[in-house]
Amino acid sequence: MRLDQFEMERLQSTWENRVKFNLSESSVHPMSIRDLASDPTFHNQLLSTPLHYNQSNGTDELRDMIASLYPGATLDDVEVTNGGSEANFVTVFSMLDPGDEVVVILPNYGQIWGLTNSLGMTVKAVHLREDLAWAPDLAALDAAVTSRTKMVVVCNPNNPTGAVLSEAEMEAIISIASRVGAWILADEIYQGSERDGHTTPTFYDRYDRVIVTNGLSKAYGLPGLRIGWIVAEKELIVKMWSYHDYTTIAPGTLSDMLARVALSPAGRARCLERTRSICRQNYPILRRWMDGHGSMFRLVEPRAGAIAYVHYDLPVNSTSLIRKLLHEKSVLVVPGDHFGMDRYLRIGYGLPPEHLQQALDHIHETLESLRSLLGAQTA
Ligand SMILES: Cc1ncc(COP(=O)(O)O)c(C=O)c1O
Repeated sequence: MRLDQFEMERLQSTWENRVKFNLSESSVHPMSIRDLASDPTFHNQLLSTPLHYNQSNGTDELRDMIASLYPGATLDDVEVTNGGSEANFVTVFSMLDPGDEVVVILPNYGQIWGLTNSLGMTVKAVHLREDLAWAPDLAALDAAVTSRTKMVVVCNPNNPTGAVLSEAEMEAIISIASRVGAWILADEIYQGSERDGHTTPTFYDRYDRVIVTNGLSKAYGLPGLRIGWIVAEKELIVKMWSYHDYTTIAPGTLSDMLARVALSPAGRARCLERTRSICRQNYPILRRWMDGHGSMFRLVEPRAGAIAYVHYDLPVNSTSLIRKLLHEKSVLVVPGDHFGMDRYLRIGYGLPPEHLQQALDHIHETLESLRSLLGAQTA
């Protein structure tokens, strides 16, 4: 079976651990085990834990903690996966067949778009609009969703724009999906990373056909744990668990254990506050840097996640630009091309502040050299 290349993940997989400055990361600088849990007794417990197969859908304790975050959910409505990406993968594989119609709200993390297109589903795009501060075009969504639509896919808070849907927009999406009985797949992995501290409400339990995916990689700053989850009604979870048997069987034993620390009430508050304070501290650094470039950049202020989706005003293709940055400055940034939109860059600003500033200074040098080169060519 042929899958379309997932361009953004290919770029990140190849370079993110090799470059000096990784601004392709969509989360904050990650936590260490020590940051997460400093208690020496717990460290000993971790070191003496037998590396058996973990309970394959996640330990009951972990699923119980996850369920408590969703109104009306119990541990039977939760499947723990290896990252949010496996949660999305298992959902698509278990819910959709070739030929099914899916409506995807874009731009979005490219996984579901790439998978559904590769697997022969009929995929329609509906766009967030920059002129509406990256709110969805609800009239276009209403027109795109037909009696053939099986699923509407949304990412909230959104990657790459950092936009958060309003209550009214969430209700409108539900009303459009419910008109035809379509499922809503809501990827909520950036929930909890809002700079203003207002946690984005979940789609869960607002409509009887909602599947939520989430995980610890973004708002919790723990991507290396590879812990994600699906929350859906019990009957679907039973089916998804059996699909999970074919993918990775189970989440890692130590990851499950550490995830229980991250999702304990105190652990959760600490992880989320850390992420939010990094975003609050770093956003002004990015903003100042952008403001120092006159009218070169345009940005709708992101509300969540350490990501900014920046439009730049230079006649240079975004992939060419990021390659130049990569090879000349060892700075990795995601090009708008990977979201199907040229002349944008997704800049991750969750690095330690001095590191972020240095990376931005490098981008500045490249942009200035391009600007004078292009100016010379057009003069
Ligand atoms: C919206 C969204 N969902 C899922 C993922 C994948 O998450 P994970 O690293 O937990 O597999 C990402 C990663 O960037 C993402 O942005």
